[in-house]
Amino acid sequence: MATMSQHPTPADFDSRAHARQMVLDAFRFRRAIKAFDPSRTIAPADVDYLLEAARLSPTSHGLEPFRLLVIEDRKVRLDLVERAGGVAAQMVDASHLFALTAMTSAAVMPDSDFVRHMELDIKEMPPTAFAEWQVRFRGFLTSRYGVWGNDRAIFDWAGRQAYIVLGNIMTAAALVGIDSCALEGMVYSEADAVLTEAGAIDPDNERLAVMVALGYRLEEPRRPMTRRSLGEMVQRI
Ligand SMILES: Cc1cc2nc3c(=O)[nH]c(=O)nc-3n(C[C@H](O)[C@H](O)[C@H](O)COP(=O)(O)O)c2cc1C
Repeated sequence: MATMSQHPTPADFDSRAHARQMVLDAFRFRRAIKAFDPSRTIAPADVDYLLEAARLSPTSHGLEPFRLLVIEDRKVRLDLVERAGGVAAQMVDASHLFALTAMTSAAVMPDSDFVRHMELDIKEMPPTAFAEWQVRFRGFLTSRYGVWGNDRAIFDWAGRQAYIVLGNIMTAAALVGIDSCALEGMVYSEADAVLTEAGAIDPDNERLAVMVALGYRLEEPRRPMTRRSLGEMVQRI
C-alpha cells in the first residue's frame, strides 16, 4: 500500500480495487440471520478478532461510554429469551451472543469515576488540564448536543456510540464469513433485570444498548436483500 509520501503504483490500484470488492462482498454476504447452526462455534482466534474490532471502534470524545458483555452462560441466554422476549434461534443457538451496554448519565458526568479513569488513566491527560477539559465537555453536552440534565438523552448519546461498535463487529464478522444478527427486539427493562441479576451490570451505571448474535447460518435468508437506490438515498447539496 502507498503511504502519503509515496507515489501510488499500479499494484496499489489493484489492491485498492480488491479491498473495495472484498468489503462490498462482505456487506452483501451479511444478512440478518434468523436461525443459527447450533453445532458450529466461532474459533477463539476469530472471537478475539471481533473483540479487537470492537475495541478499536471510534467514539465521541474517545470516551468509550459502553462495555461489551460476552454472554456465555446458557441460563442467562435462556432467561433473556423467556423474560425479555428474544428469539431462541438467535440468542441461544448462535455460537456467541454479545451485549453492548451504554453508560448512564451518572457514569458519563464530567466528574464521574468512569470519566476520570478514561481521561486521566487511559488517555493520560495531565491532571492540571483535567478541570478545563471537564468544563469543555460539559459545554458539549449542554449547548452542542443539548442533552445536559436529560438522563434519557445522555444514555441515548452513549448508546449511539455502542451502535458504532455494533456496526464494526458485524462488518468485521462478515469479512471472515461469520454471520450475525443485531438484536434490539426485546423488552429492555427485562433484559436489564436479567443482566443485573446475573451480576453483569450495575444499572445505575450502564444498561443494555443492543445485542448481536454471531455464528453460522443454518439456512439462507428467505427474502433477498432490499435497499433503496442511491438516487433515493443520497442527496448532494
Ligand atoms: C439495530 C438493529 C436491530 C435489529 N434487531 C433485530 C431483532 O431484534 N431481531 C431480528 O430478527 N432482526 C433484527 N434486526 C435485523 C434487521 O431487521 C435487518 O438488518 C433488516 O431487516 C435488513 O435485513 P438484512 O440485514 O438481511 O439486510 C436488527 C437490525 C439492526 C441494525
